[in-house]
Amino acid sequence: MHILSRIKVKILGLAGHVLNFPKPFSFVGPGASLSLVREIIGLGVKRVMVITDAQLFKLGIVDPHIQLLKDAQIEIDIFNEIEPDPGFELVLEGVERVKNFKPDAVIAVGGGSSIDGAKAILLSHANDCHPSKLTGVWLYSWPRKHCLPFFAIPTTAGTGAEVTIAAVVSDKAAQIKYAIIDPKTVPAMVALDPNLMLGLPPFITAPTGMDALTHAVESYLSTLATEETDELARMATASIIRNLAVAYTDGQNLEARERMAVAACMAGLAFTRVGVGYVHAIAHQLGGLYHVPHGLANAIVMPHVLEFSKPNCTHRLAELARISDIGENGATESALADAFIARIRKLNADMQIPETIKELKREDFGKIIDRAFAEAHGTYGVPRYLSREDATALLEKLLP
Ligand SMILES: [Fe+2]
Repeated sequence: MHILSRIKVKILGLAGHVLNFPKPFSFVGPGASLSLVREIIGLGVKRVMVITDAQLFKLGIVDPHIQLLKDAQIEIDIFNEIEPDPGFELVLEGVERVKNFKPDAVIAVGGGSSIDGAKAILLSHANDCHPSKLTGVWLYSWPRKHCLPFFAIPTTAGTGAEVTIAAVVSDKAAQIKYAIIDPKTVPAMVALDPNLMLGLPPFITAPTGMDALTHAVESYLSTLATEETDELARMATASIIRNLAVAYTDGQNLEARERMAVAACMAGLAFTRVGVGYVHAIAHQLGGLYHVPHGLANAIVMPHVLEFSKPNCTHRLAELARISDIGENGATESALADAFIARIRKLNADMQIPETIKELKREDFGKIIDRAFAEAHGTYGVPRYLSREDATALLEKLLP
């Protein structure tokens, strides 16, 4: 059982070892996003498109960056129409804007949706095709053209989209989320600027932070994990366990914000190389069907998937507990693994994250399981395979 899936995952893993995953040059610290814009100006660009969402634009988050560009006599076009879970239509609108404005550089400012939207727009534009033709792993697609010079400024600490080869886009009509996976979508340079994250409300800090934790944990438990991704995932996990609750309760804590931004980026660097797992595979379906925010769905699903996976990854979970100072000295590996899962539950509870998905309906289980298996099997190096019965039992626990 699952032999074909394991073989496909192994091939992807081998390809991941051979292929080059670009790592963007990163500016880090308060004011880093302004340093990045100064560097972009220094490249001699003449026409810059800024891609962001209406809310951030209204809040004036990008005003200082736009002022810097204006002061340098650079022509600017601002596409501030990005919505959560950008759909194909929005991507096509963005492509039209790029075609008309003809920028020589594009800066995405915002959360995962803005950066993913920009990635999809740029790859669609470069290859002159509908975004639906770009979904899936690039290994299975035709050779693609490079995107325009692209830079990213994340304003949340979560998705790691600033460093990953993936962009999530939605087919809104079919209520399905798809991933476009292609190294050509990785920005050339990024800025992790905690100043831009100080104003994030707790209800955004919590799920985005849990998304980053899910990336770290799922990449650490992946059968494709490497020494490099292990190191990144361990550091990210320990840092998120220590800093997420602080950033949640004290949003103005610059140090906690910066550490969360760096940890989310490290988790992004890990999972972009070895993939995620069932938590994401299920969460994506809850997002597509019911519009449950991605990080929230991950946070709710994660303890259940870890409990199911534990028999095949007790040692790895125990290692994550040890590095995060969780559990008693001298405790067994099994007890440490349990303590790690219990800490995730406590973190959720402390941040008012519910234990169930209020929109979930039993009649959708079949659809959710089909789609989650289609996403995970043959793609993710999950430590323990779910059967349909296991998946049904897991979903039962998420019912309100
Ligand atoms: Fe995620």
